[in-house]
Amino acid sequence: MLDQNSFKKDLLSWFDENQRAMPWRETTNPYYIWISEVMLQQTQVKTVIDYYHRFTERFPTVADLSDAHQDEVLKYWEGLGYYSRARNFHHAIQEVQTKYNGQVPSNPDLFKQLKGVGPYTQAAVMSIAFDLPLPTVDGNVFRVWSRLNNDFSDTTKQSVRKKFEDELRPYVATQAGQFNQAMMELGALICTPKSPLCLLCPVQSHCEALEQGTVDDLPVKTKKVKKKTIHQNCYVIKNKQGELLIEQRTEKLLNGMWEFPMYEAAHSEEDVYDLLKQDVSISEAPIFKLKHQFTHLTWDIKVFSVDDTIDADQVELAENFTWMKLEDRDQFNFPASMHKVLDALESK
Ligand code: ADE
Repeated sequence: MLDQNSFKKDLLSWFDENQRAMPWRETTNPYYIWISEVMLQQTQVKTVIDYYHRFTERFPTVADLSDAHQDEVLKYWEGLGYYSRARNFHHAIQEVQTKYNGQVPSNPDLFKQLKGVGPYTQAAVMSIAFDLPLPTVDGNVFRVWSRLNNDFSDTTKQSVRKKFEDELRPYVATQAGQFNQAMMELGALICTPKSPLCLLCPVQSHCEALEQGTVDDLPVKTKKVKKKTIHQNCYVIKNKQGELLIEQRTEKLLNGMWEFPMYEAAHSEEDVYDLLKQDVSISEAPIFKLKHQFTHLTWDIKVFSVDDTIDADQVELAENFTWMKLEDRDQFNFPASMHKVLDALESK
């Protein structure tokens, strides 16, 4: 068992001296802290910093974000991935504006009811902005806490999250925001997944796994999600005017974002003929190949080009299609995978 007081003292004094400078650490505005926490889920601090600055400059208040159109919000999120986070956050901010007069609720139960707010976001925002005693358990904390306690519980189980939260609750009775951030910072800087820096660790004397020589075996994550790979063919279709055909997605994944028409490889050529309703010639070999990873699946994409003899006036398009000039790409929201294609086309 850890000695609570001396552990917390060692951790917090290390954090005081070694924490990285982050713009959201300079504010107590719950709206800004919330933005940072949503962006930081699944994305590294160094990537988030620029996005955070751009986002808060464009949407400095709850009212500004609430009034914005979803397309513009997604534009400021473009490249961060996991776009449902941005949509949910935007929706939650509109609720804050209408239900709570633009004030982020400091009541954890009310805050938790907002769209997209799970136990992590709830604990992070409530503890950092209002110093409320809720422990954050994210990937870093799972790793740090498993190792400190030499705990081989399966961290992919909901019951283990609950157990960790229960064990950590006494530690956040005071200085909750500092403690939570210090645990995450320790996980990011010292207690890393591979080659942790145990010799430099400020809490090495408290670490059961270090003593037992089991650091590399922890945390336990049994539920290894086997990722499905989807083979997609993507078509860069150019018309006589030199414009490119793009399609706005209506599926749940990347909903509302634009892409070059893309179909599962098995039946893709027929889909292209169905779309254009005219004879076109498709490049024999892909002009470009790329892979894109999502949480649960991988897209393995081959990009083909379609000749430029298409007369735009002859093609009747559904309303989620449009012709775009390459130089107008900034006017549309494209996911990261399509930026790779656009960059390749631009450099030709
Ligand atoms: N990861 C997510 N939020 C964090 C924070 N506030 N400090 C350090 N790491 C984090």
